[in-house]
Amino acid sequence: MNVIQNNKELQNIISDKRKKLVKIAFVPTMGNLHKGHLSLIELAKEHADYIVVSIFVNPIQFNDNEDFDAYPRTIESDMDKLKMAGVDLLFLPSLQALFPYGTNKATQIYVPEISNDLCGRIRPGHFEGVASVVLRLFNIVKPDVSIFGQKDFQQKLLIERMVSDLALNIKIITAPIIREADGLAMSSRNQFLSSSKRRIACNIYEVIKEAENEIHNFNYKFPLLERKFKKEITKYGFSVDYIAIRSSIDLCLPEDGCKNLIILVSVLIDNVRLIDNVLIEYR
Ligand code: PAJ
Repeated sequence: MNVIQNNKELQNIISDKRKKLVKIAFVPTMGNLHKGHLSLIELAKEHADYIVVSIFVNPIQFNDNEDFDAYPRTIESDMDKLKMAGVDLLFLPSLQALFPYGTNKATQIYVPEISNDLCGRIRPGHFEGVASVVLRLFNIVKPDVSIFGQKDFQQKLLIERMVSDLALNIKIITAPIIREADGLAMSSRNQFLSSSKRRIACNIYEVIKEAENEIHNFNYKFPLLERKFKKEITKYGFSVDYIAIRSSIDLCLPEDGCKNLIILVSVLIDNVRLIDNVLIEYR
C-alpha cells in the first residue's frame, strides 16, 4: 500500500492511473477504522480497480475542540487493516495540505436545507465542515466513484446534493449499515460508552425497528409515532436529540402516500452522541 501525504504526489499517481484508464474509487474516513469502514472498501472493490482511502480528522466539522482532541487516532492499526483489506493508496493529508490559509479563513461549502436540519440543527456548522473537506478531497483525488455509509444518512444526502449541484463527475455509492451482534450500529464513538450504557445502547435499534413495524402495519400517523418512540428511548435513560420519520429522497416531511421513508434517530448517552436509521421501502 502506497502511503502519501503530499497532494502533488498523490495527483501524479492518480493521473498516471487515469492515463491507463484505471477506474478509481475513493473512501474518505477519519480513521479509527472498524468493520463498517472496511465494508465500504469491499464495496469499492466491486466498482473500481484502484482503491484510495483517506484518513483525516477534520477539525472544521467538530463543534468544540474537546471533541476534536478526543477523537481516537489509531494510525498504526488503521494502516494494518487497510493493507489487509487490499487498499492501493492511503492518503494522509496534513492540515496545511487541505487548508493552506488556515481553517478560519477557509472557503466553505454550504448545502442549503440539508445542512440545517436534524443533525445540522444539533451541530451547527458540522455539515459545512463535512462538505468543505470532502470537496477538497474530491478535487485532489478526482475519483470515479466514492463510497459513503448509510449510517450517516444525512451526510450521504449532503454529498450527493453537492456533487449534483456542482456538476462533479463522481458517482456516489451508499453502503449499508454494519452492526454489532446486538444490533448497535458500529461507530468509533461506541468505545466511549461505559459498559452499562453499552449494554443498553442496542435498544436504539430495537426501538426504530418497532417504529418500522408500526409503519409496515399501516400506522402513518408519523408525528404520533415519533412522540411514542421518543418516549420509549427516553425510558432507557438516553437523551433524545430527535427521532424523525422523513422522506428518504430529500429528508422532507413525508407527504401522504410517500413510499420512500426513513426513520432517523440521534441520542446522547454518557455525553456520547449516537445516530442510527432504518430505511423503509414498501409498496
Ligand atoms: P467517519 O466517521 O470515519 O466515516 C467514514 C465513512 O464510514 C462514512 O461514509 C460513514 O458513513 C461510514 N461508516 C461509519 N460507520 C459505519 C457503519 N457502522 N456501517 C457502514 N458505514 C459506516 O464520516 C466521516 O468519517 C467524515 O464525516 C468524512 C466523510 C470522512 C469527512 O470528514
